[in-house]
Order: sequence, then C-alpha cells, then structure tokens
Amino acid sequence: MYRTNTCGELRISNAGQKVTLAGWVQKARKLGGMTFIDLRDRYGITQLVLEKDSEVGREWVIQVEGTVVERESRNAKIPTGDIEIKVEKINVLNKAQTPPFTIEEVSDGGEDIRAKYRYLDLRRAPLQRALALRHRLAQEIRTYLDGQGFMEIETPYLIKSTPEGARDFVVPSRMNPGEFYALPQSPQTFKQLLMVAGYDRYFQIVRCFRDEDLRADRQPEFTQIDCEMSFVEQEDVLNTFEGMMRTMFKNALGVDIPDPLPRMSWYEAMDSYGSDKPDVRFGMKIHEISDIVKGHGFSVFDGAEYIGAIAVEGCAEYTRKQIDELTEWVKRPQVGAKGLVYIKLGKDGVKSSIDKFYTPEQLQAVAERAGAHEGDLILVLCGARRKTQTQLGVLRIEMGNRLGLRDPHVFAPLWIVDFPLLEWDDETQRFYAMHHPFTAPKPEHEEWFYSDRKEDLERVCANAYDFVLNGTELGGGSIRIHNAEMQSRMFEVLGISKEDAEYKFGFIINAFKFGAPPHGGLAFGFDRVCALFGGQETIRDYIAFPKNNQGRDVMIESPSRIDREQMDELCLATTVKEK
Ligand code: AMO
Repeated sequence: MYRTNTCGELRISNAGQKVTLAGWVQKARKLGGMTFIDLRDRYGITQLVLEKDSEVGREWVIQVEGTVVERESRNAKIPTGDIEIKVEKINVLNKAQTPPFTIEEVSDGGEDIRAKYRYLDLRRAPLQRALALRHRLAQEIRTYLDGQGFMEIETPYLIKSTPEGARDFVVPSRMNPGEFYALPQSPQTFKQLLMVAGYDRYFQIVRCFRDEDLRADRQPEFTQIDCEMSFVEQEDVLNTFEGMMRTMFKNALGVDIPDPLPRMSWYEAMDSYGSDKPDVRFGMKIHEISDIVKGHGFSVFDGAEYIGAIAVEGCAEYTRKQIDELTEWVKRPQVGAKGLVYIKLGKDGVKSSIDKFYTPEQLQAVAERAGAHEGDLILVLCGARRKTQTQLGVLRIEMGNRLGLRDPHVFAPLWIVDFPLLEWDDETQRFYAMHHPFTAPKPEHEEWFYSDRKEDLERVCANAYDFVLNGTELGGGSIRIHNAEMQSRMFEVLGISKEDAEYKFGFIINAFKFGAPPHGGLAFGFDRVCALFGGQETIRDYIAFPKNNQGRDVMIESPSRIDREQMDELCLATTVKEK
C-alpha cells in the first residue's frame, strides 16, 4: 500500500497511529541534526520529522512510514498543524530536478515560465482550489439538471459552421479532399435538432471553439453548460436556470441569491448602465441631461444627439491633475470619447469646466438629475446616444474599480431581457442577429418582422435573455424559431441569399418541416461561472490547460507546423514561407 492517509487528513486525534504517507517535498530544512520536511499532496501539507540529516530535494516524490505525534510548536495556519509524523522509514519514489519556480501559494515564477511548466503550476494550492471548485460546480449542475429530467447527450465536434458570430476553427478532411469540417462555436443547431427528435430536456457540458481575439474572459476553446427545452416559454426557461444557479451558489459557496432574481430590460441596461451586462453591485447610474444643457450656447453640447452624466460619490476634491488624467483616459481608443466635462459639488459651491455657459442653478439641476450630493463629482460625456452611453458605462466601471466598489465576493446576479432581435451595422449596411439567427421575434412584434422598413425591423424584440453577474455575461439564450418559413424569413432579413441559406442551413430549415415543437434554451459559459464563483475575472486558472493571449499552448508548443507528407495527404498547401 502506497499510503494509509493523505497529507491533509491527520489530526491530534490520530496521535499514536502508525501511518504511511506519500507525496511531494514542498520544503526540507535541517535543524540540529534533524530534518523537517513539508510533505504535500492535493489534500494538504503534513510536517515530517526525521531524526537525522536526510538528503531530499524540493519536489522529490517520497513515501514515509512513521507515527503521528503531537507537535511542540503548533502551526495554527494549516489544518494538520497540531501534529507531525515521526518518520521511521523514508523511501524515495522519484527524484526531481529543481523546479523553475517555487510551488507555493504565491509563486516567484512569471506567467510565461509557469505556462511552460503548467503541470508544476497546477501543483500549487490556488490552482488546485480552482479546479476543485470547477469539479464541484460540474457535479452540482449534473445533479440539478438530472433531477429536473434533463438528459445529457453528446453532439459532434466535426461539424459545419455554426453562426455564433466568431470565426470558425476548421479541420481538413483527408477522405474528402478540399473539404473542411468546422469545430462547433456551440452545439446550437444540434440541440435544436434534438428538440425536433423529441428529447425535450437536453443538456451538455461541452467544449466550444471560437477563433476570436482573446481577453481575460475569453479562450479559443471554452466550455458551455448548454441546455435546451421543448414546450416552454421564456418564463419556464428563466425559472429552471435561476433554480440551477441558486443551487450552485448555495451548495458551492453557501451564498443565497435573491428569489426571484431581478430582471432588467436591455433598453434600461443600456440607458442606465451603458452596458448590456451591467454591474449592479453599485449605483452611479447614467442619466441623460440633454434637455437641461442643450440650447445654452455651448456648441459641443448643442450639436450632440445625447448628453449623459454619472455622479461619482465623494470625488469633488479631484485635483486638476486627476481630472486631466481621467480626460486622457476617456480619450484612449478603448473608450473613444472626444473629451470630458466635469462638475464638482464642493463645499463652497459648484465648479465646472463649463461655468461660462451655465448658471449655478442650471448646473444644480444637472446634479439633481444625476442624483449627486455635496462632495460628489459629476462626469459628463456627449455624442451619439448608444455610443456615448457605452462610453459612460466603461467610465462607470473604471470609477467603480478606483473606488473599490466591485468586491469580487459580493454577488449581484440578474437577468437582462427583451433584447432587440436585430442590430443594424452601418459599415456593411445590413442587419445582424443580436443573439443568433435562430432566435424568434416576440409574437407581438411579428408584423414588424415581416415588414420591409428598416425602422420596423429595428424595433422587433426577441424573447432573448442573458444571465449577468457582476458585469460579466455568464450565459444567454432565447426562445427559438420553430417554423421553416419564419426561419427562411430570418435568413432573408440577414441578407443571406436563398441559395446560401439552403447550402449552410438547409438541414435545419428542413427539419422544421417535420414537426418541430416550440422550444428555447440557453448556454452558460462554464469557465466564466467558475472564475466568478472563485472571485476572479480571468478564466485561465479555472482551465487545467489553457491557451495564452496569442492562442498558444506554450507547454506543448501548439499550434505548430505539420509535415509535408501530412499536408499532401490533406491536399493542403500554405502561402506562409518556411522559416
Ligand atoms: P453565446 O454565444 O452567448 O450563446 O455563448 C454563451 C456563453 O458562453 C460564454 N462564452 C465564452 N466563454 C469563454 N470564452 C469564449 N470565447 C466565450 N464565448 C462565449 C459566455 C456566453 O454567455 N448557442 C448560444 C446559446 C443559446 O442560445 O442557447 C450561445 O452559444 O459566458
């Protein structure tokens, strides 16, 4: 037997027992002819004492036999801190090279070196905790959904393009030269086909692939909790998955979330938070002030479609330098504002960068609208309506960060509902589906959906919904189109020709002709769920083997070139010059 106990298990009540432990040497130090070793496995750390000098190095794998004894100087910081093992026999199972960084709670290694030796980084407690949380949540999800009658069904990875709005990863087919599979951006079409097939409650914890620019909360391959239900309305879907989230919060974190969860329309989210994924842990809402400030001779405002303000609590004392820095900040391309107007509500009255155009009473009216009080700083942006609201939304989050209003251990989940079905893109002069092209218009908006006027199509809403937590979109879904003719109309509205629609999506339009039930569903980003539950914004540490920002796995050195023979076999050539 390699071990009788784990390194996280033994307590004072085990004193006197003979045990065998196995694990990695975290630390070894010699002291007065004795050797103290911290032995680590994924359950914890146990101190070993050898009554002689013993030569073991960091990360060696050893096995020891000994007796559990009470420690003289207890360590209250670890659960096994009351005991140590008096070692009678030590057996080196495998020596190790000195690791390139310390394997501690906080490592001395940089990101790149830790990524290259990911298997060593994964030995560290924070990563072990992250993956343990991921495992726990996956179990909670399966138990909950199984209890609700959902069936877990796998769908293929080698498929045809799915329109989730990113680029596809493609895989050449050797047996069909010149033809390619696409890896699924989501199992969207397959889960809908499962509904046609009568599996009325489906779920899958499934890998999805999207070739898009990476960010802290985006990976090229990521995992969805993908779900679909038949014979449901929006209300049924929201209730079911609110229940799932409530169970996960309760069982994994011991946190109670509101019942029912708050809901906010997409329009209110945009108007008041400048984002379709509002962080509602703090106020600082956006308020339109166009009616108050327009028409008083300040040309920047007079010429703007929209003028909006946020009130930042307790920042009236901001210095010239701080305001200048903030102005530069909003002018960065990532925010894109042209400038920033401020109003300070100081003890000795109102001061602003627009004093010469407005009376103190007018500025006071702005303050009142923005919900500002003495001591607050009001920040104002102007321009095209949605664009300016979005910029104010970004500024709001920045000020929230600066003021420490975004505690990762406070959870404020909500549903965003009533999304517009379509989004007009000026550049390409066409509509795009805001969620995806399988989302149905609200029944009461169907007439507009069949209209040829842009204004009508713009105001069609969908029964589409997002689950938002602390400023992150954790999941989204919709009630679907289940009628072949309406699906064809959707492709038409999106400017996809009949032939193209037939070529790309003929299979689903066809399936809808064979008795498709009304259905709807959603998918959560599982990596994001894990990270946010763990109090982090970056998903990378919640994935055992993630990619870096260039989409590379630096441990296995992928992507990489393939042999000429393999290329030939796949009938592929590359235009990239050999290095
Ligand atoms: P959507 O595209 O909104 O919907 O994706 C659902 C959720 O997946 C997560 N997500 C990601 N997570 C990590 N890295 C990425 N690159 C990434 N992209 C998306 C997000 C997002 O909310 N088929 C539909 C769902 C449906 O309608 O049922 C879909 O995929 O958390």
